[in-house]
Amino acid sequence: MQVELDKQEITELLKSSDRERADLLNRAQEIKDAAVGNKVYFRGLVEFSNICSKDCLYCGIRKSNGKVVRYNASDEEILAACRFAWENRFGSVVLQSGELSSPAFVKRVDDLLKGIKKLSKNELGITLSCGEQTLETYQRWFESGAHRYLLRIEASNRDLYYKIHPNTEKHLFEKRIEALHFLREAGYQVGTGVMIGLPFQTYEDLADDLLFFKKMDIDMCGMGPYIEHEETPLYQYRHLLKSKQERFDLALNMIAVLRILMPDINIAAATALQAIDPAGREKALKVGANVIMPNLTPCDYRKEYLLYEDKPCLDEDAELCRNCLEARIELAGSEIGYNEWGDSKHFQNRKS
Ligand code: 5AD
Ligand code: FES
Repeated sequence: MQVELDKQEITELLKSSDRERADLLNRAQEIKDAAVGNKVYFRGLVEFSNICSKDCLYCGIRKSNGKVVRYNASDEEILAACRFAWENRFGSVVLQSGELSSPAFVKRVDDLLKGIKKLSKNELGITLSCGEQTLETYQRWFESGAHRYLLRIEASNRDLYYKIHPNTEKHLFEKRIEALHFLREAGYQVGTGVMIGLPFQTYEDLADDLLFFKKMDIDMCGMGPYIEHEETPLYQYRHLLKSKQERFDLALNMIAVLRILMPDINIAAATALQAIDPAGREKALKVGANVIMPNLTPCDYRKEYLLYEDKPCLDEDAELCRNCLEARIELAGSEIGYNEWGDSKHFQNRKS
């Protein structure tokens, strides 16, 4: 069932509109249903700290943004959010933070992993999203219970990568690629992704991003529209951007083409979609996505984890978020995979 597409064909699909686009989106939905079914899996997202040692030019919580109030949620707060996920049968959580690599940080995450496994009687699945680390750190965290890891490549074209990151030792493209290989070696289900609609990004770049995912044989993908943030260097190029609606539509096309290229991977309906269209994530579920990450970050911290403008759900508490989500997911025609890890079928298929 897997479809091979070359760069030219992918580029054309990404540009498609009207009838062709409707065909593309429908085809992706059919392929998704056949390959992974119509279940949607929840990952309760806990953004446990916005302290970051890096300076990505697009990101609102970059180190040099002095306007951000930095926070570090307490272990109790983090574990309480995970307990909420467990009690509400979410199946899995994602721990995300700014990028740090000090021994204290590595140990803290390690302790949290053990704490989450303990409080949920080993039931909660755990995804980490804590940036580039050494192979040893990845291995240590894997042994303590994390089994999936998200590390977006952000842009697979090296030149574009350096247009959106400082050209410094701390932001090397090669190191990021290496980190993705380390994750595979350590045994994780590996997730990556890109931002869509970046300044300087072409349709060909996006086609290459999809071919990069295929070449890396990834298990999971999270990608969403780039959304400008005023307190970042990339904001100066906002005149180069497509409209938000165009970025949104392009993001849906990217999800659909990826589903056609890699039928059995997990694809997340990125939160950034919802920043443009209130029903953005549900629309993504209809064209290929099968994972949603409800925000469980303690409310007081949410306004300090603004990676981009108009980030949604800033003042809803987790419970509310879940109720509105449930209704909207059912409206989108999907079923929620309660209490399931919802592992990547692609990962399972590779193993067997
Ligand atoms: N717009 C959209 N996505 C962003 N991210 C960071 N900054 C932005 C932005 N301005 C995404 C990155 C990162 C993920 C956690 O959030 O892709 O990997
Ligand atoms: Fe924190 Fe990019 S700014 S990792």
